[in-house]
Amino acid sequence: MSDFITVKKRTHYCGSLRAAHEGEKVILMGWTHRRRDHGGVIFVDLRDREGLAQIVFNPDHAPDAHKEAHKIRSEFVLAVEGIVRRRPAGMQNPAMNTGEIEVMVEDLEILSDAKTPPFMLESDIDVSENVRLKYRYLDLRRATVQQNLLLRSKVAAETRRYYEENGFIEVETPFMTKSTPEGARDYLVPSRVNPGMFYALPQSPQLFKQLLMVSGFDRYYQIVKCFRDEDLRADRQPEFTQIDVEMSFVAEDDIINISEGLMVRLFKTCLGIDLQTPFPRISYRDAMGRYGKDSPDTRFGMELRDVTDIVKQSDFKLFQEISNTGGVVKGLKIEDGKALSRKDLDDLTNFVGIYGAKGALWARVQSDGWTSPIYKFLKAEEVAKITEAFDAEEGNVLVFVADTPSVVHDALGNLRVHLAKKLNLIDPKHLAFTWVTEFPLLEYSATEKRFVSTHHPFTSPVMEDLPLIESDPGKVRARAYDLVLNGSEIGGGSIRIHKQSLQAWMFDALGLSEEEIRTKFGFFVDALEYGTPPHGGIAFGFDRLIMLMTGAESIRDVIAFPKTQKATCLMSDAPSKVSIEQLMELSLKTVE
Ligand code: AMO
Repeated sequence: MSDFITVKKRTHYCGSLRAAHEGEKVILMGWTHRRRDHGGVIFVDLRDREGLAQIVFNPDHAPDAHKEAHKIRSEFVLAVEGIVRRRPAGMQNPAMNTGEIEVMVEDLEILSDAKTPPFMLESDIDVSENVRLKYRYLDLRRATVQQNLLLRSKVAAETRRYYEENGFIEVETPFMTKSTPEGARDYLVPSRVNPGMFYALPQSPQLFKQLLMVSGFDRYYQIVKCFRDEDLRADRQPEFTQIDVEMSFVAEDDIINISEGLMVRLFKTCLGIDLQTPFPRISYRDAMGRYGKDSPDTRFGMELRDVTDIVKQSDFKLFQEISNTGGVVKGLKIEDGKALSRKDLDDLTNFVGIYGAKGALWARVQSDGWTSPIYKFLKAEEVAKITEAFDAEEGNVLVFVADTPSVVHDALGNLRVHLAKKLNLIDPKHLAFTWVTEFPLLEYSATEKRFVSTHHPFTSPVMEDLPLIESDPGKVRARAYDLVLNGSEIGGGSIRIHKQSLQAWMFDALGLSEEEIRTKFGFFVDALEYGTPPHGGIAFGFDRLIMLMTGAESIRDVIAFPKTQKATCLMSDAPSKVSIEQLMELSLKTVE
């Protein structure tokens, strides 16, 4: 019986061995990544969290260990004791951190055997994500996923250090609570002791963090789970993590400064990257106008141009109709027009169709006019003015969409990103942070047939816009801001309403009845009456931030145990049915 674990303790992580350890006796523990037999000598790549080390079983050096080593298979868990030595000349592996050395084993214990894994545990594997998620505990052995989670842990620790150094206090807020208004559906939890009643899991700690300001905590932060029952995408999960922040006696710039400081700190300490501050700011209006999105990717140009005024009187019917009925005609310019074939250009119509546009019109700019399906319908003067508006030259291609402003922005905003990827216009090393400010306070909801909060109903309006609330509610700006990185919204927040009278006015503008207000947020409205400091805050999407910091393609690659696009866990099979007894205890009946 060997005494690994109890007496012989691990001395090093496999991945930490270097040439400097030459001659040392070491004890390693880990998983069998690969085993090779070379004319009687057995080589094993032993793997742990920090990487791989080559260990060698030589029949002349340690016959017992060598004999036992014949039993080793992939993923067997081993403990070995041996001497670090330099690999013989010509046998070094510069691709491995530990490639200069190997460990000559003297003693071996097989701590666990293992079934053959359902897929290779390599960094680049070609296996469906569903299989990986079913065996997530094996998938998590792969170096890429491990590195993502190691970085995640580092960023969380550094975030806490940063806020603590700046006088913030971490306070936990409840998970079993009342509905919080972030606009998604709630996950509900039935209460056994209060039959027929439900808690809601928080979509964010919004109300609680504001109440902490009322209580005088002054500066709060929390790394916190949030729950939202919404349609999932590559950058969304039903349960996700926020870095949540709130501050008292502040205006927009205070929140923005402390947030920029956090980004500078995280990118420097965790990735060694120096960020330049202040980050550029753009108003919501300009972001939509120039990029067609409220989360613009500013790593490349191709900005949208509005040509509605130029084509108002055009003989081209569609342009004329659209521009005289409240619609817009906008376009973008592709510098290297040659990169797109005639078929590529015709296919753009299918692409913009996804966003509700009826078509994309294109024009190849030549020295003596355009090659374009719409060329013959346009007056020479119109062609000249459009060409000038885009600063277009021979060889460029222009693409236009004519429709309502929202369809045009959606179509061209997404086309712009699509083309930049297709034409390789994005430098993957470039980090483009942008603050988007002055969001509209309200937006019209076609389903609810009324104005609803763009952000949430506690966001302060820009006071000088208040008179517009009757005449043009959609024009009232909010004191809200989002932080965007490379076209992804990684954070959002606002200065809040701190006066009860303004909050009441806001609820009224949203068409909420007295009763609705009382049942939904009565406690909160009451609290505002007991001396509320001016305050504001922000929340960052922690998973999204890690996704961008690691370059992961999906948010699932930075979460240990993520859910699928259908909000299921393929490993544990959640959600699942429960027994009749459990339902009865909760006074629940399901409708099949
Ligand atoms: P918001 O709803 O903008 O603001 O959320 C803040 C940030 O959280 C991230 N995020 C998500 N990440 C993954 N999956 C999701 N389903 C998901 N939903 C949001 C985004 C987003 O920018 N209480 C306010 C903040 C405040 O006003 O202080 C809030 O939650 O990166």
